[in-house]
Amino acid sequence: MAEDLIIDKTQSKAEKYETVIPQIESLVRYENDVVANMSNIAAALKETFDFLWVGFYTVKGEELVLGPFQGPVACTRIKKGKGVCGTSWQNASTILVEDVEAFPGHIACSSASKSEIVVPVIHNKQVVHILDVDSATLSDFDATDQEYLEILVQKIGKFI
Ligand code: SME
Repeated sequence: MAEDLIIDKTQSKAEKYETVIPQIESLVRYENDVVANMSNIAAALKETFDFLWVGFYTVKGEELVLGPFQGPVACTRIKKGKGVCGTSWQNASTILVEDVEAFPGHIACSSASKSEIVVPVIHNKQVVHILDVDSATLSDFDATDQEYLEILVQKIGKFI
């Protein structure tokens, strides 16, 4: 079965999210393997938006451990409360960082990363994964990304 994404690069950011989110839902809905689903979610977001890095960290004990991702190699373990990801985990809320150098304790996995958004995936009130998206452009993320990535995570949360 062909799994090509339909992407229209001329669309606005919001339109791209409106186009890709249903396609991501279709990709994960009938698959119960968490790694397979996280892999396709990361790939679909990377392909649609050309972000620098898109991927997941999974809560394992007191650490986040690197999961499926697309982009440059990344740090494998992040402690609770550390960096943007560990802080998002601790607060169980999204963190939008316009300039990573201005975020105290930011963990620079790639020197090319300039801005970042991190959205927790919550099951039964517990954070189980972190969706992390990095851009090579300053202030690349705004309320539109936050709104749609939170919608995405709500829709696909039960499949990862
Ligand atoms: N910048 C993140 C670390 C993960 S990488 O960006 C992939 C942080 O500060 O938690």
